[in-house]
Amino acid sequence: MTGPVLPPGPPPPADADAGAPVARLATAADLPGLTALRTRVFVEEQGVPPEVERDDRDATAVHVVSLGLPADGAPAGRVVATGRLLVDGRRASIGRMAADAAVRGRGHGAAVLAELHRQARLRGATEVELHAQVTARGFYERAGYAAVGAEYLEAGIRHVTMRRTLAPDGDDRHADRAAP
Ligand SMILES: CC(C)(COP(=O)(O)OP(=O)(O)OC[C@H]1O[C@@H](n2cnc3c(N)ncnc32)[C@H](O)[C@@H]1OP(=O)(O)O)[C@@H](O)C(=O)NCCC(=O)NCCS
Repeated sequence: MTGPVLPPGPPPPADADAGAPVARLATAADLPGLTALRTRVFVEEQGVPPEVERDDRDATAVHVVSLGLPADGAPAGRVVATGRLLVDGRRASIGRMAADAAVRGRGHGAAVLAELHRQARLRGATEVELHAQVTARGFYERAGYAAVGAEYLEAGIRHVTMRRTLAPDGDDRHADRAAP
C-alpha cells in the first residue's frame, strides 16, 4: 500500500545523511569541473563575458572546491562550489565565489569561504578584501565581512567592497561566523 502523495518538503539541512559540505584545495583533476561551474554561474546565469570571467589571475590563484554530497542529488564528486584566493603580503583577496544553483543554501559556499580563509592565514594574510555582488552581501556579512564605501558596477553587476580581518588563531569552521 502506498501513502498519500505529499508535496516535496524543504531540502534537508546540509549535514543530513552524508555530513556537512567539506571544502579543500582544488587539484588538477578538479579544474574542468571548477571551470564548468564558473561558466554556468557567471557566464550563463549572470551574463558575464567569458573573457572577463577567465583572467590571468587564475594561473597564480589558490583555488578551493566543495564537492557534491549524496543529499544534494548531484553526481558524486562533482564540483558544486568554488572560490579563489590571491595573497599579497598580509592582504588577501577572494573572488569567483560560486555555488551551483541546485545546491545553494546547503552550506557549500560557506565551506569554500572558510577554507579560503584558512588558506589565507596559512600564507600569512591578516586581512581579506573582496568585491561582493550586492545580492550576495548578506552571505559575506554572515561570514564576518563589513561593506566599505559605495556600490559600483563591475562586469555590469552592482558590487560593494567588503573586508574582514583574519585572526591568526581563527577557528575557520565556527569563528568565521559573525556574531548574531
Ligand atoms: C553567494 C553564493 C556563493 C552562496 O553560496 P551558498 O552555497 O548558497 O551559501 P551557503 O549555503 O553556504 O550559505 C551560508 C549562509 O549565508 C546565507 N546566504 C547564502 N546566500 C545568501 C545571500 N545571497 N544573501 C544573504 N544570505 C545568504 C545562507 O542562508 C547561510 O546562512 P545560515 O548559515 O544562517 O543558514 C551562491 O549563492 C552563488 O553562487 N550565487 C551566485 C554567484 C554569486 O553571486 N557569487 C558571489 C560573487 S561576489
